Amino acid sequence: MEKQTDQNEAVYREQRENKVLEIEAILEKYLPAKEGYQQIIMEAMEYSLMAGGKRLRPMLMKETFTLFGGEGEIVEPFMAAMEMIHTYSLVHDDLPAMDNDEYRRGRKTTHVVYGEDMGILAGDALLNYAFETACSAFALYPESSERIGKAMGILAKKAGIYGMIGGQVVDVKETGHRIGKDVLDFIYELKTGALIESSMMIGAVLAGASEEEIRIVEQVAARVGLAFQVQDDILDVTSTSEVLGKPIHSDEKNEKTTYVTLMGIEKAGAIVEKESGEAIELLHSLPDENSYLEWLLKELIHREK
Ligand code: IPE
Ligand code: IPE
Ligand code: MG
Ligand code: MG
Ligand code: MG
Repeated sequence: MEKQTDQNEAVYREQRENKVLEIEAILEKYLPAKEGYQQIIMEAMEYSLMAGGKRLRPMLMKETFTLFGGEGEIVEPFMAAMEMIHTYSLVHDDLPAMDNDEYRRGRKTTHVVYGEDMGILAGDALLNYAFETACSAFALYPESSERIGKAMGILAKKAGIYGMIGGQVVDVKETGHRIGKDVLDFIYELKTGALIESSMMIGAVLAGASEEEIRIVEQVAARVGLAFQVQDDILDVTSTSEVLGKPIHSDEKNEKTTYVTLMGIEKAGAIVEKESGEAIELLHSLPDENSYLEWLLKELIHREK
C-alpha cells in the first residue's frame, strides 16, 4: 500500500512538471512579438512572465475546466491572460513604492533590470495585454461568445477594486501598524483569493458549469486562496531566498501584519491545513472529480515555495 502511494505521488509530480511545461508553451504562444519602437516593453513583459513561477493559477483554471468536462483550447487564451494579470500584480507589488523587493522568481525584479518607469509600464502592459488576449477568444470561438463574455466579466472584476487591486490597496494602507484579523482576512480574500477564485471560476464557466456549481467553485477557491497566502506568510519567515526565488523577511521589513505575526507559525500552519481540508471537502460536493486537482490542493499545504 505504502509503495502504491509512493508510485502515485511520483506520477502526480511528473504530471505537474508536464503541465507547467504545457502552460509555458501557451504563454510563449500568446506573448506579443518583440518589434517596433516600443520593443523594450515586449522584452520586459517576457522577462517577468517567462521567469518561472509555479503557474498555479492557469493550472487551477485548466483543472477546473477539465473537472466540468471542458474540452478543446478555448481555455488557453484565458490561462495566458490570468498568468499575465498575476505577473503584473507581482511586478507592481515589488516596486519601490510598494514592497520594494529586488528578487522575484529567482531573477532581479523587472524594475531593477529595466528601470522603475519600464517596471510600471511593463505591469500596465501585461494587464492590458491580458484583456487583448482573452478577447481573442471571441474571434476564435464565436459559437461560445456567451461563455467567453461571462468569463471576461469575472476576469475583470476579480482583478479590480473588488478583487486583487482592492486587496493590495488595503494591504499598503494598513502597513506599519497592527491590524485585526477581520481586516487581514479582507486583505487576503482580495489580494490573493480573488485571482484564485477567478481562475477556477473561469475554468468552470468555459466548461459550461451551472450557476450553483460556479458558486461552489468560488467557495473552494476562496479557501485555497486564504491557505495559499497564509503559507506564503509562513515561508517568508521559514524559507530561504534561494528556494523561494524572492527575498525572505519582506513582511518584517515592510512592517506588515500577517497570520504569522498575529498568531505564530504553528497556528498559522493549522489554518492552512484547515482551509485546504475544507476546500477539498467542498470539491467533493460536486458531481465529478479530478484526482490530480485534489492532489495539487493537498500538495500546496506543505509547499516549500
Ligand atoms: C505570489 O504568488 C504572490 C502571492 C499571492 C502569495 P505565487 O507564489 O503563486 O508566485 P509564482 O507565480 O509562483 O511566482
Ligand atoms: C502579494 O502578497 C499578493 C499580490 C497580489 C501580488 P505578497 O506581497 O505577500 O506577495 P510576495 O510575497 O511579494 O510574493
Ligand atoms: Mg505585497
Ligand atoms: Mg510582496
Ligand atoms: Mg509574501
